[in-house]
Amino acid sequence: MSSPVLDEAARIAQQFDYPAAEVQRGVAEYIREMEEGLAKEGTTLSQIPTFVTEVPNGTEKGLYLAVDLGGTNFRVCSIDLHGDNTFSLTQSKIMIPRELMAAGTSKDLFLFLARQIEAFLRIHHNDHFEAHLLRCREGSKREELFDLGFTFSFPVRQLGINKGTLIRWTKGFDIPDAVGQDVCALLQDAINDLDLPVRVAALVNDTVGTLMARSYTSPDEHGTLLGAIFGTGTNGAYVEKLDKIKKMDSFDTYDDYDKSTGEMVINAEWGSFDNHLSVLPNTKYDQELDADSNNPGVQMFEKRVSGMFLGEILRRALLDMHRNESVNLFKPSETSDVEVPENSGIYKQWGIDTSFLSIVEKDKSAGREQTKTALSDHLRIQRPSDTDCQAVQILVHAIGKRAARLSAVPLGAILISTGKLKKDELVDIGVDGSLVEFYPYFEGYIRDTLKELPEIGAEGEKKVRIGISKDGSGVGAALIALVAAKEDAAKEKVL
Ligand code: BGC
Repeated sequence: MSSPVLDEAARIAQQFDYPAAEVQRGVAEYIREMEEGLAKEGTTLSQIPTFVTEVPNGTEKGLYLAVDLGGTNFRVCSIDLHGDNTFSLTQSKIMIPRELMAAGTSKDLFLFLARQIEAFLRIHHNDHFEAHLLRCREGSKREELFDLGFTFSFPVRQLGINKGTLIRWTKGFDIPDAVGQDVCALLQDAINDLDLPVRVAALVNDTVGTLMARSYTSPDEHGTLLGAIFGTGTNGAYVEKLDKIKKMDSFDTYDDYDKSTGEMVINAEWGSFDNHLSVLPNTKYDQELDADSNNPGVQMFEKRVSGMFLGEILRRALLDMHRNESVNLFKPSETSDVEVPENSGIYKQWGIDTSFLSIVEKDKSAGREQTKTALSDHLRIQRPSDTDCQAVQILVHAIGKRAARLSAVPLGAILISTGKLKKDELVDIGVDGSLVEFYPYFEGYIRDTLKELPEIGAEGEKKVRIGISKDGSGVGAALIALVAAKEDAAKEKVL
């Protein structure tokens, strides 16, 4: 049944359509930016060389530490790689205090992280820790350090396996003095200040960790091509031919690395794809969100795709309708005594969490019961009419579907540009993040969109295997720490 509210919701929803022709334009531009990013520095798509030149095959063994900074939580874990595609993981997780994410200093943040590592070691590896302290007190030079993989999920200009300078913060973090500094050195200094038996052996983006972890747990002949995150932020890492990474020829300073595989993992940093908006869709809600963010003009792809932003796009669209005199969204009427209190999240920037979208999208009940409960729980909106709920569902669906269809752009472009689908019978992709894991049919929409690309089609899409790589960042970081420790040991032997 038509009504001004539903008509307006449909009109706004239409602005989020992302048709096949636009997807194709997006893919062509993505391939252009990929090549540009491999050729030189300072491009919109960073295409960062990671110095990881091999993906694991599942036989790797040993006990490693990993820490993960990049979302709402800081995680510390120890990972025991069993060498048979399996591992066991012990972890602790703590929310990062808001004041440390923005406005503080890098020293405060990294000391906080080192303290969490100390607490973790005391609980889970106290014998090792105490033995180390004793050796220190006795002045012994013999050190038995834990090798630690540092998953740091922000754009970093990597200069070696455990060296890299922060390019910019994303996802609400903003600690200006850290920009341009080597984040591994910052963490190692804080660890040394606390005398912890830990060596920061590897610097890892979460997408690289996801790629490595997926390759470790499900190896087949071809290994994994790509690791992607669709969570608070979005990004991907993939295996590229070394001779295509032209910009490495002109790097002035970087550590030596093993070139024997002829390949290197590239961290695309695709959150910043098309920052100049030549092909990305751009509704007025996208524009307002960007203008009011703490990093306007960057991470433009991420701001249309990832969990941190979808709730805010929805909030702006809902608020627009709510304030529109000619449509009655969340307004009392003869048939509805809906109530929107002043402290409702609808009036506050970032007031809608992305989990709200997943709940609403999942709700197929006739009475839209889950949507009503979510409106009450998340936004304190009481007794919304059925039409209100229907309008919310229309907008949620449009915003979520656009995000998933956009997600197919980098995936499609990488599948096409690496030529993998032509060469191999099966191409493996590891994914992680709340959107792919919990948003209904997110992967389905990605697959539908891949089929629409003429270079992939239904036949090509069938060859793509997408699998969740849980705990990717922890296990992946451990795997890279292992490779780094092995390389170090080999260098020491030569010396
Ligand atoms: C960061 C990436 C990261 C992604 C997913 C983005 O905001 O720039 O480095 O991989 O979020 O966590």
